[in-house]
Amino acid sequence: MVEKRGVGSAPVRGKRVLVRVDFNVPQDPSGQVADDRRIVEALPTLNHLRAAGARTILLSHLGRPEGHRDPRLSLRPVVHRLSAILGARVPLADDIVGVHALEQSVRLANGDFLMLENLRFHPGEEANDPGFAQELAHLGELFVEDAFGTVHRAHASTVGVPKRLPSFAGFLVQREVRELSRLLEAPERPYAVLVGGAKVADKLPLLTSFLGKADSLLIGGALAFPFLKARGANLGATATPSGLEGAVDEFLHRAQSAGTEVLLPSDLAVERRGVVGAETHPAASLPADADAQDIGPETRTRFSDRLVRARTVFWNGPLGRTEDSRFRDGTRAVLSALGGAPGFHVAAGGDTARTVEDLGVAGSFQFISTGGGAALEFVQGIELPGLAVLPDA
Ligand code: 3PG
Repeated sequence: MVEKRGVGSAPVRGKRVLVRVDFNVPQDPSGQVADDRRIVEALPTLNHLRAAGARTILLSHLGRPEGHRDPRLSLRPVVHRLSAILGARVPLADDIVGVHALEQSVRLANGDFLMLENLRFHPGEEANDPGFAQELAHLGELFVEDAFGTVHRAHASTVGVPKRLPSFAGFLVQREVRELSRLLEAPERPYAVLVGGAKVADKLPLLTSFLGKADSLLIGGALAFPFLKARGANLGATATPSGLEGAVDEFLHRAQSAGTEVLLPSDLAVERRGVVGAETHPAASLPADADAQDIGPETRTRFSDRLVRARTVFWNGPLGRTEDSRFRDGTRAVLSALGGAPGFHVAAGGDTARTVEDLGVAGSFQFISTGGGAALEFVQGIELPGLAVLPDA
């Protein structure tokens, strides 16, 4: 693991410190923060900066407004929640890099906070425009990267600014790198990887990255369907993506030569027209009108047995349609089984943290990443631009 120079050693007293955070949080229909985990996880860095007398200027994006102002994606609800959590009022600079932002930043006292409005309201952010990066950098004297969830993006705030200011990794970024690196560097064996979700084309590179590294790869969710088909299953009325047959066959061959065992569901919970509840059928042959929605009880047991015997477990993606109460038992049962088991268990990616919360299985994991795409790229060993740009310790 390459350690990055950390905020703990940064000379921040009296300095204007730009901190990139990932406050791209889920919102409820009224725009309020629906899950403040990413805010809470930034507190070690923010509290340190406050105690050390920094003048902290927070940078974040929210959603994908694509360079336009969208009031629904304002960071105002986020600063409200942040102010409540910090017990200090955090003003919002509406104009991002305009005169007001500049005035507000120079008026900060030691220990104060200011937040800039959604960086992605400005087209220069995602374009990594040098002019925009320069204007952002002009607001501060030091830069701290604590937005682990965004380090896979080469944007003005993640790459442009750290190229222009003395830069440091925040405590959250340091922790994410340390914990996720344990999966890459000599993970304790057996190492089992459990991947669910729906998008096969997106997840194939992730699955492939574990071949030869993990001992077993357990596949659930809609992700399993093309693999089951490749092994000759008849999935009834279940929709499966087309055009991926070659890639799936090749993956299964490579897994065999790499010595990574691939475990697929042996039974599935299905939905059928005119039937209210869920039915379970062997995965090899579903009734013609059956639409598979979750793993079945036999698969829960097989998967759980394998996972509890592993010393390292990585999980990403639900094993069924967890948003429907009839089809969340598979994911819940398997993740709950991990609860009492020894070993190092990590959850990462997309809505994973939320699913863990909703299913009440947070206690099954030693580490839950705040990263979506960033965490998944990290565990594939892909170099992340927002980390690469930071100086080593
Ligand atoms: C995330 O939620 O994964 C990060 O905030 C990055 O967001 P993005 O995928 O819109 O760049």
